[in-house]
Amino acid sequence: MKNNSYFSLKFENDTLHFIDQTKLPFEETYISADSYERISEAIEKLEIRGAPLIGIAAAYAIALAFKNNNVKSEKYFDKVYKRLISTRPTAVNLFYAANLMKERFEKLSEEENVFLRLLDTAREIENSENHNSSRIATLGLNIFHKKSNVLTHCNSGSLAAGSFGTALGIIKNAYDHGLVNKVYVDETRPLLQGLRLTSFELDKLKIPFTVLTDSMSSSLMQKNQVDLVIVGADRIALNGDTANKIGTLSLAIICSYFNVPFFVAAPSSTIDKKIISGDEIKIEYRSSEEIYSIKQNLIGLQNWDYFSPAFDITPAHLITGIITEKNIYRFPYNFLNE
Ligand code: MRU
Repeated sequence: MKNNSYFSLKFENDTLHFIDQTKLPFEETYISADSYERISEAIEKLEIRGAPLIGIAAAYAIALAFKNNNVKSEKYFDKVYKRLISTRPTAVNLFYAANLMKERFEKLSEEENVFLRLLDTAREIENSENHNSSRIATLGLNIFHKKSNVLTHCNSGSLAAGSFGTALGIIKNAYDHGLVNKVYVDETRPLLQGLRLTSFELDKLKIPFTVLTDSMSSSLMQKNQVDLVIVGADRIALNGDTANKIGTLSLAIICSYFNVPFFVAAPSSTIDKKIISGDEIKIEYRSSEEIYSIKQNLIGLQNWDYFSPAFDITPAHLITGIITEKNIYRFPYNFLNE
């Protein structure tokens, strides 16, 4: 795959550097942070976003908390850990990464350098997510049976996962293999991750794309313009029910109506083995300001009532297949022994 001229996140000189995703596509500015508090804020404000990337950033944040406080204090670790996991509730990768850091911390001996050893684990998490993304991009080629028009929702590319991305990683790889004709990009209201971020990534790679507002996909499918839909995931239950960006559920329902295959792509770290079904997934509700204003310009009255979930749950039976780095799974799903 071609190289990008930008990076989503890089750990260098004991500092985490990341592109400010709230400024894209107009400004490619980078933020450098070496405090766990600043990285927590970045996750809350969506300067860093996307399930796998949040996990990677949280791991580095936990390590960085010990940069200037290099002692094995359980009380301090607990404070840092709790701050990080309070940032966003839905993407399980955050909890997965924070728990791996916790396990590593608990096993440290008194002689070991806490900062350096936690940094090793953060790097392992990043490398493993990058490896998983490239496996997903390769495995995902198998769902293409012809040169296709593919539709995606939100952003599941490099900006969401580090290296290639998950769902968008498959699309980019399939394009390189001559299997994609064009990409339809859902704008993804309210924060426009599709319009702003997925288009940014596709544009950089010169992959042909067309943006549509979220309510237009049914019309496109009615005209037989979509062969395949692939989206990412923030949390997958053992039965395959999947939490992803708000609007994914309506897309899956439309696909089912028009008989368009609907795939989910995610690393196995997105599967939450502690929950049986989507009913147990906590959905993040964000400020109504994100609905009544765009870039500080009001588009609705502030005192009206707004519904503002950031994610929804797509029931497993609407998902044609779930692609992880290990396999392509088909309904009925049971991830208990995976
Ligand atoms: O609120 P966001 O932008 O963090 O939501 C991101 C998504 O919903 C993505 O589709 C998901 O995290 C998969 S990213 C590989």
